[in-house]
Amino acid sequence: MRLNQMHLFSLRMSLRSIALGGLLAFAGLAESKAVKTHSGIVHGGQCSTTDIDYFYSIPYAKPPLGELRFAPPEPYNNSGRVINATTPAPACIQFGELFAETTATSEDCLFLDVWAPASATPKSNLPVKVWLYGGSNAVGGISDPTYNGCFSAADSIVVSINYRVGPLGYLALSDLGLTGNYGIMDQLLGLRWVQDNIAAFGGDPRKVLLFGQSAGALDASILATLPEAPQLMRAAALESGAGRDIVTVADAKVWYSEFLYAMNCTKQDLSCLRSAHVDGLRAAVAAMPSTSLITLNTALVNNGTRIAWTPVIDGKVIKDQPTTIGVRVPSILGSTTREGSLLVLASYTTTWKGEAPSLSDYDDFLTLNFGPLATRVNETFPLASTFNGSTLTAMEVMLTQVTYQCSSYRALQAAEKKGIPVWSYRFAHVPSCAWLGPIEADSIPSLGATHTSEIPFVFNFTSSMPPPNGNCTFSKAEQTMSHEMSRMWTNMAQMGVPDDTNTWPAWTSDESKGVVFSDAMDVGVVDYSTCDFWGEINEDLNEYWRSQSSHV
Ligand SMILES: *[C@@H]1O[C@H](CO)[C@@H](O)[C@H](O)[C@H]1NC(C)=O
Ligand SMILES: *[C@@H]1O[C@H](CO)[C@@H](O)[C@H](O)[C@H]1NC(C)=O
Ligand SMILES: *[C@@H]1O[C@H](CO)[C@@H](O)[C@H](O)[C@H]1NC(C)=O
Ligand SMILES: *[C@@H]1O[C@H](CO)[C@@H](O)[C@H](O)[C@H]1NC(C)=O
Ligand SMILES: *[C@@H]1O[C@H](CO)[C@@H](O)[C@H](O)[C@H]1NC(C)=O
Ligand SMILES: *[C@@H]1O[C@H](CO)[C@@H](O)[C@H](O)[C@H]1NC(C)=O
Ligand SMILES: *[C@@H]1O[C@H](CO)[C@@H](O)[C@H](O)[C@H]1NC(C)=O
Ligand SMILES: *[C@@H]1O[C@H](CO)[C@@H](O)[C@H](O)[C@H]1NC(C)=O
Repeated sequence: MRLNQMHLFSLRMSLRSIALGGLLAFAGLAESKAVKTHSGIVHGGQCSTTDIDYFYSIPYAKPPLGELRFAPPEPYNNSGRVINATTPAPACIQFGELFAETTATSEDCLFLDVWAPASATPKSNLPVKVWLYGGSNAVGGISDPTYNGCFSAADSIVVSINYRVGPLGYLALSDLGLTGNYGIMDQLLGLRWVQDNIAAFGGDPRKVLLFGQSAGALDASILATLPEAPQLMRAAALESGAGRDIVTVADAKVWYSEFLYAMNCTKQDLSCLRSAHVDGLRAAVAAMPSTSLITLNTALVNNGTRIAWTPVIDGKVIKDQPTTIGVRVPSILGSTTREGSLLVLASYTTTWKGEAPSLSDYDDFLTLNFGPLATRVNETFPLASTFNGSTLTAMEVMLTQVTYQCSSYRALQAAEKKGIPVWSYRFAHVPSCAWLGPIEADSIPSLGATHTSEIPFVFNFTSSMPPPNGNCTFSKAEQTMSHEMSRMWTNMAQMGVPDDTNTWPAWTSDESKGVVFSDAMDVGVVDYSTCDFWGEINEDLNEYWRSQSSHV
């Protein structure tokens, strides 16, 4: 970490207005062909700088309102309707500030977007890439300009699915008959919609890649372990979020009861939750217990749910611990070198007002995340010798390894055990243009190859940055890497391998080979050397949590 550059860092907390006008700048004026789907006859538009058509805001489920709030989504079926698919979909209701979408939001949000080469016909049988956005399962949406498919659908169909987030997507409270996973079921219904409808756009439903980042990768990594996964996808690409343990509905009760409590609803009254205004839901989420300390993905966080809004083992949709099952389809699994810098440096400016966290803050951080194992962690990685005495560096590195890299490592191991081919990467390149929401160009040097850095490369987004219409253009080398990465993601959909020349070696535990994306694509060792230690910590904390919660 370059501490001397840290004063440059600033995360723009004020909401940047990504107005409709920005998105429509991509749209141009021409209309695209009409496509017949179960949702209706969709009339899209043409991307302004590429030969690609877009179809925005196609309904794939009935509006999840009234009795369908906190309920599985129901398929939308209205094949006779004519849909003007040129207006971006609203994001689902956002539950949080940082990285929340600034476009319109609505509880009526179960739409998906499709991009297809203008030349595609129902006979094209093109590979299909289906995207799940990140945002902690609390925020995010398909109309975010960074997820624009106008640059990555030259050789494939790109689909992006809105799914419910926050309590609307993940609240699980068995007392109220709520088994959670509504966001997961939205994603599954979206994938079924792709199976039923994508051929009309020129896609081949047998060649679907599910790719996602952060919570989108967490969710996708779970979907890829379900028995029905091979019918819905040929492959997965899991960027910075795969391989985390999840809990049962019963184990999530303590944490989600905090939400019910903040709603002022009684335990048995589902109608109270169903009739509440979304502002009430948002206020209740904001009133749930929170900490200003950095939290890692360990069994002690958020009363054992780990990530606050999480898929759960419900015995129906998700029957078993996904990390034990492992993915059932060939997958890419990777992370960035400095995943943790984004959150740690955001806290640095907000919570710590530009000061390094004190030694006592650091002790609190260790205790919060590792409980009785804090000393073991502290002794294995002494602050002075491991992190040069920097509490910020220590928090960043632990966040990077515990929450992202070593979770991915466990998912790689589970796949290897099952005999499912997997490929690993480490994204080590620092983008030369800002690429996402509130990240300012000024802060990029302090952030390094942080969480989300690989997204523009996967989306082949190389100019007009930051999206939608900035003035920064990627270097030639970055453009080349973008073309390669987006092509390899397409290859996964097309063939179930990232490249047909075997340049990218499949991952095995003895060699740990993969690709390091730095200034170019380098084949080499992907470093998971601390992950055996963190794996033990994960197991031991799970065990400790089980022993504690059995007394509750
Ligand atoms: C949609 O409705 C049509 C006509 O009622 C029916 O044939 C078709 O199976 C339905 N499709 C779905 C996905 O429900
Ligand atoms: C679709 O909606 C856009 C934006 O509101 C409008 O400009 C366009 O005329 C509409 N197209 C049709 C065919 O109604
Ligand atoms: C990426 O963009 C380049 C042009 O900049 C284009 O030639 C290439 O086909 C695109 N790749 C994909 C996968 O869309
Ligand atoms: C619950 O009650 C408290 C105390 O009266 C109030 O401050 C809070 O706004 C209420 N929450 C909701 C979601 O209505
Ligand atoms: C839930 O976690 C909070 C914060 O860590 C803690 O204060 C509270 O006691 C926990 N609740 C239970 C029932 O364990
Ligand atoms: C970590 O080690 C330092 C130095 O020995 C010590 O001062 C600190 O209290 C320890 N913290 C924890 C949580 O064990
Ligand atoms: C450790 O910190 C010292 C003093 O700030 C600095 O001179 C040195 O370069 C740092 N070493 C590393 C490896 O970051
Ligand atoms: C590019 O955009 C930034 C941010 O809007 C602005 O500060 C800068 O002056 C622009 N640079 C050029 C060369 O137009």
